[in-house]
Amino acid sequence: MYRKGIILAGGTGSRLYPLTQVVNKQLLPIYDKPMIYYPLSTLMLMGVREVLVITTIYDFELYQKLLKNGNQWGIKIAYQIQEQPNGLAESFLIGKDFIKDNSVVLILGDNLFYGDQLPSMLKDLSNKEGASILACPVSDPERYGVVEFNSEKKVINIVEKPKNPKSNYVVTGIYFYDSTVVERSSRLKPSQRGELEITDLNKSYLDDNLLNVKLMSRGMAWLDTGTHESLHEASSFIKTIENRQGLKIGSPEEIAWRNKWITDQQLENLSKDLNKSSYGEYLIKLLEGKIL
Ligand code: TTP
Repeated sequence: MYRKGIILAGGTGSRLYPLTQVVNKQLLPIYDKPMIYYPLSTLMLMGVREVLVITTIYDFELYQKLLKNGNQWGIKIAYQIQEQPNGLAESFLIGKDFIKDNSVVLILGDNLFYGDQLPSMLKDLSNKEGASILACPVSDPERYGVVEFNSEKKVINIVEKPKNPKSNYVVTGIYFYDSTVVERSSRLKPSQRGELEITDLNKSYLDDNLLNVKLMSRGMAWLDTGTHESLHEASSFIKTIENRQGLKIGSPEEIAWRNKWITDQQLENLSKDLNKSSYGEYLIKLLEGKIL
């Protein structure tokens, strides 16, 4: 099914102050690349080639400078501004003209997914009707939207930041919706904290029996990077795996090239701009066939 992608990369990042007082969270490094490369790569791995980046008025130009129009990676990237952090579900109102009557996948700019079954699992979800979300077991469910199940393991509710979570499965930052998402979002009312809540949007699909909840297995990792601790952990995680395997996680250049969205020549040109870094050296090794 054809699906467009949205990366939500605004927010205030207040839990990361002073790091994010002048730099937008999603521009911060996760080991060897900017954070936003990871969600962008996740979209590219599932075959999404039209992406809207939503960010703040202050950071808009920086993202344009970093990601350009996407052509260099064989994709299309458009940009829009979120005036205030009014909630995740506002993405679909801001992105209305981009979405048109297409299905869409939203990924949060600070969410990192990793695992060998991930691309195929995301492609499967992408082909489903209605809405699909991914739920992951965590040790601190009370910080997230918690999935509640009945005795037959059927999802019966999603509760945002409950004091007494009824399960250890929480909703991750990747969401698949059909084209009714724009209309559904326009019907949402701001919550007590003044945000258009993605949980309310998911509940609207759940009420219509159109919400598919996929449970992530143990072999996959989902990291969010919203606190100093989790930011550092995410960097260490990427460093450990990259150094051990000699393969990079979340490189848009590599994914575009492996997907045949760019040619050898294009990859070579991209690597020239980066050749003083290990990242650039890696791209050259790919071209030389030294990394399979
Ligand atoms: P959060 O981590 O909930 O919020 P935040 O990034 O502003 O950080 P903090 O809680 O420390 O102040 O946001 C999750 C992701 O969604 C993150 O990538 C930022 C993005 N976001 C927006 O772009 N707009 C919004 O209105 C909200 C609520 C979040």
